This record gives sequence, structure tokens and C-alpha cells, in this order.
Amino acid sequence: MPLTRLVDGALEATVALSFGRPGSLVRSRMAHWHEPDKGTGKVALVTGATGGIGLSIATQLAAADWDVWLLGRSETKLASACSQITARQPNAKVHALSADLTNLAAVRSAAKYLLGETERIDALIHNAGAMSHGYLRTVDGNEQTAQLHLVAPFVLTHELLPVLRATAGSRVITVSSGGMYTQRLIVTDLDPTPADYDGVKAYARTKRAQVVLNEVWATYPQAKGITFHAMHPGWVATPGLSESLPRFEKWLGPLLRSPDQGADTAVWLATAPEPLESNGQFWHDRRIRATVRLPGTATPASEATKLWAWTEERALLSGAKST
Ligand SMILES: NC(=O)c1ccc[n+]([C@@H]2O[C@H](COP(=O)([O-])OP(=O)(O)OC[C@H]3O[C@@H](n4cnc5c(N)ncnc54)[C@H](OP(=O)(O)O)[C@@H]3O)[C@@H](O)[C@H]2O)c1
Repeated sequence: MPLTRLVDGALEATVALSFGRPGSLVRSRMAHWHEPDKGTGKVALVTGATGGIGLSIATQLAAADWDVWLLGRSETKLASACSQITARQPNAKVHALSADLTNLAAVRSAAKYLLGETERIDALIHNAGAMSHGYLRTVDGNEQTAQLHLVAPFVLTHELLPVLRATAGSRVITVSSGGMYTQRLIVTDLDPTPADYDGVKAYARTKRAQVVLNEVWATYPQAKGITFHAMHPGWVATPGLSESLPRFEKWLGPLLRSPDQGADTAVWLATAPEPLESNGQFWHDRRIRATVRLPGTATPASEATKLWAWTEERALLSGAKST
């Protein structure tokens, strides 16, 4: 076995070193990672691009000469994110797309607007995410975390299918979380009552469900020609982490990755040729990873089918298969 594989496996076994900064530093040096090749003319849509990992993904793609659409819910934060990118790269082609993912009508109208603006999308990157410690219900009637991580991305992918299909080599990338390893998918758990809501569990369950949906999308006949990838960024110092898990952030301190390190695999999945050779896989640090680490957390095929039907119903897309 090559040394890089052995070291990668040893890091993986420790979890903390793999998810933390050492994993990124060691793997990037041993495997000689390089920056993405120029992608002039290519187009990306990055959700949650106003800060943290999403802003870094958008910045790295813009630096590789991609046309980048930043989706966010705050006009002010969108304007600031675009100017942060153009301050570093004056010729960057960045555009703001405003939509709150907790409102499906807003998601649909953003997708419609984008379809009028571009004839290609090479990478759709579902990065927006949050852990909410209190139970919240969206205007569409879904628990907020489930809508943000599952239903809204499902609607967005579905609405953009025509242009994704029309773009050779297009990819849909979902930023999940290593937290998903702690939970088994039980679809009925995606509708917690306010009384039994637990923000950390809701986050991990929806992150597990993202990985399962990614696998189903890869087999979906109407998405033929599009490649689907899920990944986890490791533990990353971002505004989201400070807000949702301040004690965890303090405890990990210098072990946390930078946003650029957390964004690396998503950018590589969008830009490199190798990821086109597989579909529906789960990645970390540019390598396919197992989706199950703990006993009892594997997903039976029947539960995956149930999840697809649940998401389709919540997305009000029961006719999705005929598109
Ligand atoms: N940081 C980590 O250690 C870590 C670990 C594993 C996975 N992840 C995943 O990585 C992704 C990015 O996280 P991050 O740490 O970079 O978090 P972050 O700093 O909080 O960034 C999250 C982004 O999502 C946006 N967003 C949240 N709710 C939204 C909504 N309703 N509509 C539209 N945009 C919304 C945020 O916009 P606002 O600024 O307007 O809220 C922000 O741009 C998430 O999916 C997260 O689950 C992060």
C-alpha cells in the first residue's frame, strides 16, 4: 500500500486528527494538492456563500476564473461577500442571488431568475447550513433544519435540472458533516415535535439524510449525465461554528481548520476531472469515505426510498419523476 494511503488511514482512525487541521495539512502535502486549473467560462452556484466555508468556496472558484453566483438570504451580506472577493480579485465574476432557503417560493423564484441569466451551470454547491438549538417551523410547514438541509436543496436541484443536464460534466455537491456518522436515518425523526426537538440531533440526522439523498440522486433517471457528490469539511473555524457550538470551538482551538481548508474538497469536486469517475459518493479530503462508522447506522434501501418520497412531498414535487 502506498505511504500516502497508510498515513491517510492512520489519520482517519483517530477521527480528531483527520477532521482537524492536521488531516488537511498532512494529506495536502503528501498528495501534492494543487490549486484548481482555470475554469474560464464555467458557472457555479454556491448557497450560503456569504460567510464561512461557502464564501471560501466562492472565492476559490472566482480565483480560478469561474463565474460565481452567491446565494444568500441577506442583501447586505451578499454585497459584502461580493466586495470581499472583488477586493482580492478585481476581475472576479461574482453575482448575488437573494433567497431565504426557509421559504420555498423564494427558492423557486431565485432558480427561475438564474435560469434566465445563464445557459450553463457546471457546479451547484449546496453549502448553506445551520444548527438551530430551538425548534422552528418554516412558512412551508417543515422543521427548519430539515428544510434548510434537505427540502430547499432538493427544490433547487430539481428546478435547475434542465440547465445542469444541458451542461456537460456538471456536478451537484452537498456539504454535509462528519456529525452525520452519529445518527441512523429514520425518516419519521425528520418531523420532531417541539417537545422532543434536539438541535444537535436534528442537525446530524439531516446531515445523514443529505448523504442518503445524494446516493439516490445519483441513480435518478432524470439526472442522468449529472454527477452527485457529498462531502464533509472536517471541523472548521467559521461564524456558524462559533454561534452554534462555542464550547466545542474553544475546546478544539488551534486544531480547527481554516475556511479555505474546509472548502478544499468541495472546490476540488467541482473542478477536478477525477470526481467525474464516480457518482453518489461521500468524500473528505479528496478521497471517498465510508458512510457508516458506528454499528446500527447503515441505511436500509427501504428507508432511502422513504426519504426520497418524504422530501419530494415536502418539496411539493410529487410530479418530479415526470420532468
Ligand atoms: N464549520 C464546521 O466545522 C462544519 C463542520 C461540518 C459541516 N459544516 C457544514 O458546512 C456548511 C457551511 O457551514 P459554515 O460552518 O461555513 O457555517 P456559517 O459560517 O454559518 O455559514 C453558513 C452559511 O449558510 C447561510 N444560511 C444559513 N441559513 C440560511 C437560509 N435560511 N437561507 C440562505 N442561506 C442560509 C448563512 O447565511 P447567514 O449568514 O445569512 O446566516 C451562511 O452564508 C454547512 O452546511 C455546515 O453544516 C460545517
